[in-house]
Amino acid sequence: MEKPAKLAIFGGAPIRAKPFPKWPVFGREERQRLLAVFNSGKWWYGERVKEFEQKYAQFHDAKYGVSCTNGTAALEMALLACGIGAGDEVIVPPYTFMATASAVMKVNAVPVFADIDLDTCNMDPRATAEKITGKTKAIMPVHFAGLPVDMDAFRQLAKKHHLMLIEDACHSWGSRWKDKGTGALGDCGVFSFQMSKNITSGEGGILLSDSEEIAETARSYSNCGRGKGKAFYEHYLLGSNLRMTELQAAILLGQLSRLKEQTLKREHNVACLERELKGMPGMALLKRDKRVTRRSYHMFIFRFLPEAWGGVSRDRFLEALKAEGIPAAPGYPIPLYKNPLFQKIGTGPRFCPLSCPYYGRTVDYRRVVCPNTEKICRTAVWISHPVLLSREKDMRDIARAISKVWEHRKELSRG
Ligand SMILES: Cc1ncc(COP(=O)(O)O)c(C=O)c1O
Repeated sequence: MEKPAKLAIFGGAPIRAKPFPKWPVFGREERQRLLAVFNSGKWWYGERVKEFEQKYAQFHDAKYGVSCTNGTAALEMALLACGIGAGDEVIVPPYTFMATASAVMKVNAVPVFADIDLDTCNMDPRATAEKITGKTKAIMPVHFAGLPVDMDAFRQLAKKHHLMLIEDACHSWGSRWKDKGTGALGDCGVFSFQMSKNITSGEGGILLSDSEEIAETARSYSNCGRGKGKAFYEHYLLGSNLRMTELQAAILLGQLSRLKEQTLKREHNVACLERELKGMPGMALLKRDKRVTRRSYHMFIFRFLPEAWGGVSRDRFLEALKAEGIPAAPGYPIPLYKNPLFQKIGTGPRFCPLSCPYYGRTVDYRRVVCPNTEKICRTAVWISHPVLLSREKDMRDIARAISKVWEHRKELSRG
């Protein structure tokens, strides 16, 4: 077969000159709803926030929804509402955004890292089981890039060891496990609506739960410790102000109206892309469990297999792909525990001034090694969700570009 023309990185014509869709997507829905809020003069924590909470919870099959300012705040709210505090250990993955672990520390608890499964990029239930100690109070897996974790295994583990199960669902708006929404599968789950997310109001977050007690406690924390049905100037818990505005809720109601359609479109496009990529050398696709009945793609991820590329690095591959008109990224460069914050803790006189006296142990994150996470940090390729909103034929461009770079790998390794 004839080799495709010269690589764009060396001056050849790129596979694709047309840009992919931009994010965020918005329209009349958001404009009209925002205008209605402006004109109402009621911009503060009212009926639209309530409407969004109810509709979003319903969308995920949860009984209760408690909105807040962002996903980080939602994680803290979830931990507090689940009774996690000083001296408790919470098991989290190291392949995620910082907030998953920092929220644990913010409630004075100790994050313990369990490695991921390379085939899914999700926290591995077996690795998690090995990390359980007498101090463990909760497991907090992330449905990474929108792919639900093995909730059957995590539920079993939580039940066996009497642990709270909190879903970091900050990538999994609309994802479903055995046809139930993520965020409603554990004791509670939290979502982010930050600007880069598949449904956004710039910033925003929500906690979902089937437990009235967890939802009410979370509500109180998010609303200055107020009590349900109690006087405005009475405060029952050490809370904070994490309230969402009516303006955010108006935008989110607009965004929610197209979430299902966009999720289905991304799923369809990824199915086409995976058909094109299947069997392609130099890369490994991730696996999807049959129990995942819908998947929100925050990213499409595959693994670059350096050993097959004869000296071409992942980052050089990404440069060549970008020159062909395909935006892709390497993702997190290091596991969470390699961040200066964690590395420094081990060298200080105390791990954490607030939790140490209660913890009664020491933690040295410099000794933590999660080999799969370290490997994925070196080899992942992320394609972001707006790209997956384009047409089916655009997916072929992605596959053609990868294939072109592969065909020219020798020149790329030299150049
Ligand atoms: C997995 C995960 N958890 C939590 C968060 C925190 O969300 P936010 O940025 O809304 O605070 C993020 C944000 O990127 C995330 O990716």
